[in-house]
Amino acid sequence: MLEKMIVEGGRPLSGEMTVSGSKNSALPILIASIMAPGRFEFHDVPDLMDIHTTAGILSELGAEVENHKTFIVDSTPIASYEASWELVRKMRASFLIMGALIARFRKARVSLPGGCELGLRPVDQHLKGFEYLGVKISEEHGLVIADATGLHGGKVVFDFPTVGATENLLMASVTAPGETVIQNAAREPEIVDLARALTAMGARIEGAGEETIRIQGVQSLSPITHKIIPDRIEAGTFMVAAAITGGTIIMNNVPTTMLVSVMEKLRECGVRFEETGDALTVIGPKKITPVDIETLPYPGFPTDLQAPFTSLLTIADGTSIISETIFEKRFAHVPELIRLGADITIDGRSAVIKGTGGLLGAPVMSSDLRNSASLIIAGLAARGATEVYRIYHLDRGYERMEEKLSRLGAVIRRVRQDD
Ligand code: UD1
Repeated sequence: MLEKMIVEGGRPLSGEMTVSGSKNSALPILIASIMAPGRFEFHDVPDLMDIHTTAGILSELGAEVENHKTFIVDSTPIASYEASWELVRKMRASFLIMGALIARFRKARVSLPGGCELGLRPVDQHLKGFEYLGVKISEEHGLVIADATGLHGGKVVFDFPTVGATENLLMASVTAPGETVIQNAAREPEIVDLARALTAMGARIEGAGEETIRIQGVQSLSPITHKIIPDRIEAGTFMVAAAITGGTIIMNNVPTTMLVSVMEKLRECGVRFEETGDALTVIGPKKITPVDIETLPYPGFPTDLQAPFTSLLTIADGTSIISETIFEKRFAHVPELIRLGADITIDGRSAVIKGTGGLLGAPVMSSDLRNSASLIIAGLAARGATEVYRIYHLDRGYERMEEKLSRLGAVIRRVRQDD
């Protein structure tokens, strides 16, 4: 059943919310439970569609999975090393299963991934990385087949920092005999969290969060209990929601150290932050000052907040330019924002956003996870009703967003979409 979200905009947000556990951190860490037989216990795993897909993949491989408040995996019974297209096509991150299967079984058969429609998203860096470690890769019938009987440590040099390939190689290398050096590694906090989990399992990793990661292969790993870090993208999204409505919200569990570039841009927009104990108060401005943004690998400004910031800047007091350097075709929200009255032109990889006096509600179509959030955010500021269609994209990555927004005073409801 398809659903849409109806937002009645124009109300400043106010109240308190708590940031959920990080989706992008949970996905690789849950998958890492394949790597050692035993009972794993994960805390702060968000309740999301992508997590359910991951649970499905682990179960299909033979693991016993319980996903209530705590996410429990018993990976002892895993006997299969093949991940089918049925599950992998739903989520690109499932390709991370390759590194985990290589570590446990020295072989893997994984379908080529689907996932968000974000231009071309190849896996060439992942495959090149595996080959540096002595893994023989072949492809047939849409499956990538890995023969890792000769797995060994090696020097992996990525052409550019990629989050997924860094995670995949981290998993494949921790049991590879000898030393592995990953150069030009991605530095995202989710990689640091994965390395923390793997280290607790017995891996020897140095330099996670830096450009060069060194891994000394170990012979065996054991199960762990692990608490997932807070979701910096969800946190950033709610900061933008507060800002666009000129509201004031109190946020708990905010990973401020992982949001330095984001909070800096929000400050430039006129947002004020006050830290009291563990809570962060976000105070939206009366007028939004325009800013220029370029998305970059961490610690630069995250591409996953590009779409929400585009919404914010549609009502700024002047012109802003957002340049997207990470993904091609990540401007699908722009024509939809224009339907709400925004003045935006796309010039190659940049969007030129001229602030307008205000947005007016209209029906809009979401087409990926982050752009669905950006359309809801625009709806919070628009006069009248904004209907965001195909909201299943949002459910992949934001935990009960409408409930959290409702508690902050937004008028938002989920209804059945007829077509
Ligand atoms: C992860 C995040 C996603 C975020 C992205 C960038 C998860 C589950 N997802 O995605 O939310 O938007 O990081 O911060 O953590 N590329 C190649 N070849 C490869 C691998 C990547 O060309 O082998 C390209 C991609 O097409 C893209 C860029 O590299 O243009 C960055 O991709 P990557 O960092 O790997 O993103 P993901 O891990 O897919």
